Amino acid sequence: MTFKRTLVTTALPYANGPVHIGHLAGVYVPADIYVRYLRLKGENVIHIGGSDEHGVPITIRAQKEGVTPQDIVDRYHGIIKKSFEEFGIDFDIYSRTTSKMHEKTASEFFETLYDKGEFITQTTEQYYDEQTQTFLADRYIVGECPNCHAQGAYGDQCEKCGTSLSPDELINPHSAISGGKLVKRPTKHWYLPLDKHETWLRHWILDGHKEWRQNVYGQCKSWLDLGLKPRAVSRDLDWGIPLPIPDAKGKVLYVWFDAPIGYISNTKELCEQQPEKYGSWETWWKDPETRLIHFIGKDNIVFHCIVFPAMLKADGSYILPDNVPSNEFLNLEGDKISTSRNWAVWLHEYLQDFPGKQDVLRYVLTANAPETKDNDFTWADFQARNNNELVAVYGNFVNRAMVLTHKYFEGKVPPQGELTEVESNLFSEIKAEKQQIEQLLDNFRFRDAQKEAMNIARLGNKYLADMEPWKLAKTDLNRTATILNVSLQIAANLAVVFEPFLPFSSKKLLQILNLNQLHDTKNPHSELDSESQRKSLWNQIGSSNLLKEGHQLAEPTLLFEKITDEQVEQQMNRLKRIKEENQLKAWQPAPLKANTTIEVFDKMDIRVATVKNCEKVKKSNKLLKFVLDDGTGTDRVILSGIQQSYPEPEKLIGKQILFIANFPPRKMMGEESNGMILSAVNNDGKLVLTTVSAPTTNGSQVG
Ligand code: 2FM
Ligand code: ZN
Repeated sequence: MTFKRTLVTTALPYANGPVHIGHLAGVYVPADIYVRYLRLKGENVIHIGGSDEHGVPITIRAQKEGVTPQDIVDRYHGIIKKSFEEFGIDFDIYSRTTSKMHEKTASEFFETLYDKGEFITQTTEQYYDEQTQTFLADRYIVGECPNCHAQGAYGDQCEKCGTSLSPDELINPHSAISGGKLVKRPTKHWYLPLDKHETWLRHWILDGHKEWRQNVYGQCKSWLDLGLKPRAVSRDLDWGIPLPIPDAKGKVLYVWFDAPIGYISNTKELCEQQPEKYGSWETWWKDPETRLIHFIGKDNIVFHCIVFPAMLKADGSYILPDNVPSNEFLNLEGDKISTSRNWAVWLHEYLQDFPGKQDVLRYVLTANAPETKDNDFTWADFQARNNNELVAVYGNFVNRAMVLTHKYFEGKVPPQGELTEVESNLFSEIKAEKQQIEQLLDNFRFRDAQKEAMNIARLGNKYLADMEPWKLAKTDLNRTATILNVSLQIAANLAVVFEPFLPFSSKKLLQILNLNQLHDTKNPHSELDSESQRKSLWNQIGSSNLLKEGHQLAEPTLLFEKITDEQVEQQMNRLKRIKEENQLKAWQPAPLKANTTIEVFDKMDIRVATVKNCEKVKKSNKLLKFVLDDGTGTDRVILSGIQQSYPEPEKLIGKQILFIANFPPRKMMGEESNGMILSAVNNDGKLVLTTVSAPTTNGSQVG
């Protein structure tokens, strides 16, 4: 099947918080690389994005902050849109699901299916909060976890132990809004009977799309093998698009029904804004010669591969996705990225700390893209990839070519002269790399494609190192001219090949080379030079003639700068602080012990003593040896396992502490201990000594 155009969509992020590196790595950078690559090839492609502004996640955030859902989505839509712009994500449109166009499109979509009889209705018993007079979404129901018995587990998941739950499993479920008890009430909802779609879905995916990524295909297969069930497409909620039918008061479209329709609404909005450029929205969604690609994260697979296609099929006039290149998850320094725990690198914060370094993050996220399995982002790797690859390979090569041309040829592209076998092999290798990169990008293998692009810079670097033009300049200026001409041609090639991956650096490199805008992404016909005007820019890769003899270059400036140890340390300190804050928040007192009696307590001989001496026990990294004045006139020795909390034990001398006097003596590490020193766990999780609030006679009893 050949296609005339490509429609790329990227998952609409919930507008309930800013976006972080996980979003960028999982969805937006790969999609952007793909779109930029197709544009460079001169293909007809549009990239549709927007914010997902309905659903429970938005209302929960609003409730927490005591503002309206509209306030929340207005705020975060702006922040998210700006972050994407700053990172060069090249959308044709970035709109929102609270737009008028979307409300109309989603309502009409529902109506069409409704009129065609594509829904069934079911009435089920759901939890109802009598105080607020609302049915509650699973997230709004809290109770005790049946698994770990933590309080405050949600109706869909316990955040303490991670178990997936349904509200019925919670012990003592109650409303998270009013705190009150819940009752069950019948409520009617509209369902898309996915079971009826199972046969064609099986055939379409399992036989027809074996080329999909293994993780995507595998997830679809397990869903299909389990057997599909009807899925509710409505909810009892006061935030969302009202069901456009009678007999459905208080019901809105389920967010996962309306969000993917957002791709259609936003395409419509784009085509209405610029009809001469984009044509009719229906061409993009209904013509079989359009190829539809959804870029998403792995938690969205079922909705894009099963539910949304079933919706499109139920309508009957739409094309289906050709591919759904979903990524796995990106972790941060070994831990799952989490908005609620602030365990993330937020894009707007990154730019405050690393202004102008968008491409460094894009590069590292692609180099480590979680394409086949979950992957880890670490600041050490960020620094290493920047310093050892971007700076030492790509930047260094370009800089050497520029500086030498300025030194020997007044910054003008020297004549190419005759190319030797070395040079023709070099350009053949670049052409071979180009083909490999194309093949990889066509198969959504962005990580490997970027690696091959960097190999072109490596080829250039090696060429310069082998040819040593700085030595040759003394004896053979003609050959030096050839070598520098060739190096500059490679630099121009790099500007093209890296454009999808590192658009800001390509732009900068073109400025350094004093070339016009490489390519206006919205107008694929403005190109490098007159010769290439009829061809696509991408096809120039491997050319030895991108720069003309005598062309004046700009002054050399560095393409990339080193990331210092201090910068990495600063980021690591931030994460350390967040971890500590989270530990504090997560702290809960141990459950209270069962009742005891005064008689039991009286059996304990708890007393005050002054520390006369304190030192580490030899060969132990836990024990401290305390010599105490317990008021008896005889020194008492007690060993206590709190060395980690007191690295300078001598500082404890003179302090008054509490100890239990009537434990029988016992030997530890060859020393006898007579009693037990009392301690408690402090905010950092360390044991600390308990003491008295005013000077006390040694030996006095606690009671
Ligand atoms: O998982 C999410 O963040 C969803 N807001 C993605 C929606 S994708 C699409 F269907 F719009
Ligand atoms: Zn639990």
